[in-house]
Amino acid sequence: MSEPIVEITRREEFSAAHRLHNPAFSPEENRRLYGVCNNENGHGHNYAFEVTVRGPVPRATGMVMDLNQLMVVLREEIVAHVDHKHLNHDVPFLSGIIPTAENVAVAFWRRIEPHVKRFDGCRLHRVRVYESRNNFVDYFGIDA
Ligand code: NI
Repeated sequence: MSEPIVEITRREEFSAAHRLHNPAFSPEENRRLYGVCNNENGHGHNYAFEVTVRGPVPRATGMVMDLNQLMVVLREEIVAHVDHKHLNHDVPFLSGIIPTAENVAVAFWRRIEPHVKRFDGCRLHRVRVYESRNNFVDYFGIDA
């Protein structure tokens, strides 16, 4: 009998500061583009992120992957490095990027994916980053 493909998702939360600023643009243009996120000394968000893994459900275990193991990966690889930090200054894997939710989602994907591949048949399907309750972005590992 074939194995159904199921997506499983783990959510984690963290709080961090960031500043959105591109030195190639004028101060006025930066303010227009990024609004409050351009505040000179940064400002804070209560972030959340959801990581979805897709894979077959083996009859023997009934699990795509142990969600507790996914939780450990997310906490060790992401939360421990970003919680209560300034994303522009304190997080080596975010250095050199403008820490928009889009760029943060892509950076999280790249950091998480090698750990998901270790689990048989599983692949990372989506990284969703919430910059606030109502604003979120999705990355599916697809590049133009
Ligand atoms: Ni902001």
